[in-house]
This record gives sequence, C-alpha cells and structure tokens, in this order.
Amino acid sequence: MKFLGKEISSPLTLASGILGISFSSLQRVINDGAGMVTTKSLSLEPRMGHEGPIIAEFEGGLLNSVGLTNPGIEEGLLEIEKFHQACQGVSIVSVFGGNTQEFKQLAEAVNGSPADLLELNLSCPNVEDEFKRPFALVPEMVTEIVSAVCAVSSIPVLAKLSPNALDIGEIAGLAEAAGADAITMINTLGHGMVIDPIAKRPVLRNNFGGMSGPCIKPLALKLIHDVYKTVKIPILGTGGVSTGLDAVEMMMAGASAVAIGTAVYDKGLDVFSLAKREMDTFMREHGYADYPELIGILEEN
Ligand code: SIN
Repeated sequence: MKFLGKEISSPLTLASGILGISFSSLQRVINDGAGMVTTKSLSLEPRMGHEGPIIAEFEGGLLNSVGLTNPGIEEGLLEIEKFHQACQGVSIVSVFGGNTQEFKQLAEAVNGSPADLLELNLSCPNVEDEFKRPFALVPEMVTEIVSAVCAVSSIPVLAKLSPNALDIGEIAGLAEAAGADAITMINTLGHGMVIDPIAKRPVLRNNFGGMSGPCIKPLALKLIHDVYKTVKIPILGTGGVSTGLDAVEMMMAGASAVAIGTAVYDKGLDVFSLAKREMDTFMREHGYADYPELIGILEEN
C-alpha cells in the first residue's frame, strides 16, 4: 500500500518519541513489520528536556513529561541518512520549533536529507513553561506554521494535533487549508498527574504530564473519526494502539496508517510483528484483501 505516495509494507508505524533517533533501533522496527518510523521530535539545537522522573505508570497507561529531549536536527539527520542506507522503510522526521521561523528552518534542514516525510509537532503538552500553549490549540498559529513550512518543504508535511483542542475538526481543517498533506493524531492527553501517597508528591519531577496508552484509545478513535469526516487528507492515527485489532479499529475510524507508541514499553519491539500478524489474520478471516479497504469503513449507528 501507499501512504502519501510512499510504498509501505504495512500501515504500522513507530510513533514519535519512543525509540529516539538511533538508526539501528529504527531499522529494527522496520524489520519487525512496521512500514514507517517517526523520529523523536528534533529541534534546531540539542535539548536536555526535563529532570527525571519523566515517566510514571498508572493503570491504563503512562504519563510522560520528557520535555522534548533530543540531540538537535543536525545529529538527527545523520541517523536518518544511515537509516536509509540500511533499510527500505519510510522515515518521518518529527520536528519542533519554538516559533514559525524555527519550524521553517527545520523544514529547510530536512529538505537536504533523505527523509521521506516531515511531521510538525504542534502539540507537545510538556513545554508550556517555555513556549506557552501548544500551537495546535491556537488556530492562527496552526495556519501560520503549516503555511510557512509547506511553502518551503520539498517533502510531504504532517501536522500533529492535540486531543486537548476544543474542536479538533476545525484545527485539522485549518491545517489542511494551510497545505498540510496529512494529519497525525492524537498526541498525549491532558495534563494528568500521578501521586506518590507516601511522599505526598507527584511522581513526575515536572508534577504533570501527557497521558498515553490504552486509556486514551477510545478518545483517539472518536477524534480520528470526527476528523476523517472533516478533511480529505489522510490521517496517521495514534493513541493507545497496542494490538493488531486496535490498529484495525483505528483504520476503520478513518486512519490511513497507525502509529504505535506506549505499547513498545509494555511489549517491546515485538509489538510490531505481533500486531501485523493479528491484522493480517483479521483481514484474511473477514475477507479484506488489502489494508486500504479498512480505511473509514466504520458505519455509525
Ligand atoms: C515530550 O518530549 O515531552 C513528549 C513529546 C510530545 O508529547 O510531543
């Protein structure tokens, strides 16, 4: 099948932020059955991120407040070059800028690399102290950043949106009108908090963070279905997917491809081969010949 013109061996995709940027980890995910991999969000300069603990477990998922730790775009793109020398997978370079100009500069840097697709992280909930409200919650900023990037990018652009938007359909429509080639959704939910009752303190050093994992899957499905009905561009769905059946549901809701993130922590990299096998079995048993047949076929009651 194809996603944004790129041939992919399966719709399964590594979500951003899970395995960093090392080409060998990204290559392993492709070998395990994913069609695409997304890098950790890269900024112009390296970022330390927040002090630990940056991850807290709770029943139903994970809370993270990483703070966009990354080695910077230059180093990230060196790994992307090695990735493309090593395997046939499709790469999605995720970038984060503190303003429109930085996003534009990042897109220009990515133009000079073999990266296949560019994802704009407009929705990280963990850096409000530095950058104020995530851009994905500010309609004018979505329009401004996506138009500026699309004017310079030589590769297709995905806008990564937040479940915290009041009307995610409206935001997705603005991204589409500004030239985005696809929507990635959803980033983590909230802020949430996990408390250590003995210490009487939040577990995360940063006090709160974005929620991911199975607890957000129903929300992701609903929002993806809303956006599928609103825009014509494809959706890279993500949010709580940990099995092949989860991925099938997400495609039925409207996603053209499906990213797995938090489940990698629970199940390891085998999650991709297991999910692919489960998807393929479901399709065979229910008479679907190819993955695109699943996209958006949900029938509402
Ligand atoms: C982080 O680095 O804080 C997580 C990234 C994100 O939620 O976009």
